[in-house]
Amino acid sequence: MASPWMTEPQGLASSEAVAAKRDAESSGPPLRVFIKTYGCQMNVYDSERIAELLRGVGYAPTSEVEEADLVVLNTCHIREKATEKVFSELGKLKALKARKSAPGSSLILAVAGCVAQAEGEEILRRQPAVDLVVGPQSYQRLPELIALSHRATGRRLATDFAPQDKFDILGAGRQAHSAAAFLTVQEGCDKFCTFCVVPYTRGAEHSRPSAEIMAEAGSLVAGGVREITLLGQNVNAYRSDVGLADLIRRLASIPGLARIRYTTSHPRDMDDALIAAHAEVEALMPYLHLPVQSGSDRILRAMNRGHRAQDYLRLVERIRLARPDIALSSDFIVGFPGENEADFEATLDLVEEVRFASAFSFKYSRRPGTPAAAAQGQVEDQVKAERLARLQSRLDAQQKTFRDSLVGRTAPVLFERTGRLQGQIVGRSPWLQAVHCQASASLIGRVAHVAITSANANGLVGQLALEAA
Ligand code: SAH
Ligand code: SF4
Ligand code: F3S
Repeated sequence: MASPWMTEPQGLASSEAVAAKRDAESSGPPLRVFIKTYGCQMNVYDSERIAELLRGVGYAPTSEVEEADLVVLNTCHIREKATEKVFSELGKLKALKARKSAPGSSLILAVAGCVAQAEGEEILRRQPAVDLVVGPQSYQRLPELIALSHRATGRRLATDFAPQDKFDILGAGRQAHSAAAFLTVQEGCDKFCTFCVVPYTRGAEHSRPSAEIMAEAGSLVAGGVREITLLGQNVNAYRSDVGLADLIRRLASIPGLARIRYTTSHPRDMDDALIAAHAEVEALMPYLHLPVQSGSDRILRAMNRGHRAQDYLRLVERIRLARPDIALSSDFIVGFPGENEADFEATLDLVEEVRFASAFSFKYSRRPGTPAAAAQGQVEDQVKAERLARLQSRLDAQQKTFRDSLVGRTAPVLFERTGRLQGQIVGRSPWLQAVHCQASASLIGRVAHVAITSANANGLVGQLALEAA
């Protein structure tokens, strides 16, 4: 794999980065980086790429925070709880940093991700132990900033928006770590739902060119990856030289790539071509995460979602016509400002009508700077909690019904890892449930047919039927 340095931009960044590499290679024991990831799959993807980038400048990854020379927290800002977790973790790391401040030992503390973007200055103000703050579109600057931290005291903030620079530096070469991998194809959001911070933390929608994606997918598959999940905050708004449906068709032609998934989609961007791909592309798995948020038109309008409940239901009908066995998943918010009992019941009605295979549901969380945070009619926490419990009990029941419907069927499973029990391996069904099976670990990285014998809260249990590919 080409060193990321080969594409480093000119100027200070480049010379400082080379200096960092030289420092790391020439003196003392190897440097270690501990990365902790919060939030969505895109942060998981970014953390992997950060690890690869830092490896190029001499930092080997460690899973022991105590032995780290550099800690990166890759953070999430989506709800208040997610953000508060970061500040409490930083409190603990401050103590570790103090212990490590003996001569010859040090710890650089970096905050990356969406909290970094949204609250960079605030982080530096609230937590003096933090050395550098870097937003999601500025990871290409990490080596430069780390080098500066090595050389001189001072605290640094990088929160520019330069999405293509990020992907240029992170490069197309990828290391494969397991049979299933994430690949970011689109980043950012122009939708501005009134509750959501993502348009502010990830910036405007940006789609990567298809050739770059094909190259990254190719290197993953060459390394043994059999399933790729295409990522985007609005992945179905992907539009570059081709649209998402054509991108999926191209990826499906890569020999050895058995499975393709994509997440997260917006109902407004679910076009005919993408629905047709679900009917026609064998590698495209029958699973779709399509958040609806609410079943009340009044609330959907206040959320600026750009669709009504009816539009969503009609869309579901068309998708099921194309792919009858598709597993549908969604996100819900309860207690959005102004939501009354009738609005909430409209959400329950929509849930009854769709029958979801899985879902995520949240209490509305007031996010500073978003329009809904300042809206009239904020709902009391107790009411939110009660609605959330009612909604989740319906969604849990539907999830169980879907899982139970798979018992007695035979399904192709991509095995990804060993299980907790002796002789057990774990993979995923086409509909994304974990499948546990007693079988040889040599099947890891391969697709095999499994007869599903039972279902439980952890997923499915099965027996090997017939080996496939
Ligand atoms: N781009 C995706 C979602 C990204 S955020 C989409 O458009 O669906 C993931 C989920 O977090 C959202 O779908 C929403 O359900 C939830 N979420 C976002 N902001 C929230 C807030 N302020 N309070 C509670 N839940 C929120
Ligand atoms: Fe947030 Fe809405 Fe954009 Fe999804 S579509 S990331 S919920 S603003
Ligand atoms: Fe969180 Fe940012 Fe993802 S706010 S959900 S890490 S896009």
